[in-house]
Amino acid sequence: MKTENTGYILGIETSCDETAGAVYSLSDEKIISNKLFSQIDLHKIYGGVVPEIASRSHLEKIDLIIQENIEAAGITLDQISAIAVTSKPGLAGSLLVGFSFAKALAWSLNIPFIPVDHLEGHIFSAFLDSSGNKREDIPFPLITCSVSGGHSSLYQVNNFGEYTHIGNTLDDAAGEAFDKIAKLIGLGYPGGPIIEKLAESANFQDFYKYPRTKNKPKNYNFSFSGLKTAVMYDLVKRGYYSLESGLIKEKITKEIQTKVASSLLVCIADIFLKMLDKVFTDFPDITGATFVGGVSCNKYIIRKLEELCDKKNKFFAYSPRQFSTDNGAMIALVGSYKYKNKLFGSLSSDIFE
Ligand code: KG4
Ligand code: ZN
Repeated sequence: MKTENTGYILGIETSCDETAGAVYSLSDEKIISNKLFSQIDLHKIYGGVVPEIASRSHLEKIDLIIQENIEAAGITLDQISAIAVTSKPGLAGSLLVGFSFAKALAWSLNIPFIPVDHLEGHIFSAFLDSSGNKREDIPFPLITCSVSGGHSSLYQVNNFGEYTHIGNTLDDAAGEAFDKIAKLIGLGYPGGPIIEKLAESANFQDFYKYPRTKNKPKNYNFSFSGLKTAVMYDLVKRGYYSLESGLIKEKITKEIQTKVASSLLVCIADIFLKMLDKVFTDFPDITGATFVGGVSCNKYIIRKLEELCDKKNKFFAYSPRQFSTDNGAMIALVGSYKYKNKLFGSLSSDIFE
């Protein structure tokens, strides 16, 4: 018989452009499969995610991916104790695919159905180590910087399931800034990893010193949309961009792209550093920080945040790369503690609830 400490949680995530599944073992407290299909290649030519293409692709892939996860975990469907699925936020058509699939499977197996907030998934992704084991060494209360293409948020996290949203981006997310500026200077999608590579080749020098506040931030909100405008006007000033016809392709050499990329990364890292410094000053009881979401793949920002935490004598952790971008493992992990606390959803619930 399955108890709260045996069996497996199936996690499903389809909020944007990854059709993702994962299996979490309750007895080993470990992710034992984490397979997904990334739609990046389908959206690349448009420079961003196209919602209709995303939902159609989820429909094509969902049963295959879930089957692959069950097989990779080496279990059978009747060993699953509950199904956790992303319910919000995200693209409605994409969310509905995973949500409906999860409901139908939970109903047919007669097991609990657990809706999970995608952002809660990201927060707790730092509680998985690179082998998928649940970490027990992360102290509370902590501050989480959750940064991706869709969000740049700060949370005060007091325990599993206990967190307060203290700050947000007022406009674009930091990942979105990387993506939009990469597009502006003729680089590919997604922009973040390409910009990091170029910046590394320039040894993370701050060539152009893009604007950021020199003072302590006034509150816990971010704003990144002005950065794209600042980069654009700087390129105009230097003669690489025309406000009428766009990028002047003959002039924007690899060297210039590299200088923009390096300056941009240093600027964005600085913005996060200043914010974290303010949080440590304003909330002296905070024991440390975690860095999660797609942008937490960035080794330079990790290094800078780690240095600050060391200096301030604070703990620091970040989500392993495979759990940083959207994935089913973080949903399965949140599902596991909701399962232990019997926080189940109803089969009549809907997305965005
Ligand atoms: O979490 P995620 O997969 O999807 C969203 O929920 O948005 O994050 C994707 C975002 C993209 O904006 C991408 O450019 C950014 O994460 N990203 C990075 C890096 N890898 C991915 N940004 C900076 N440096 C990276 N190495
Ligand atoms: Zn995400």
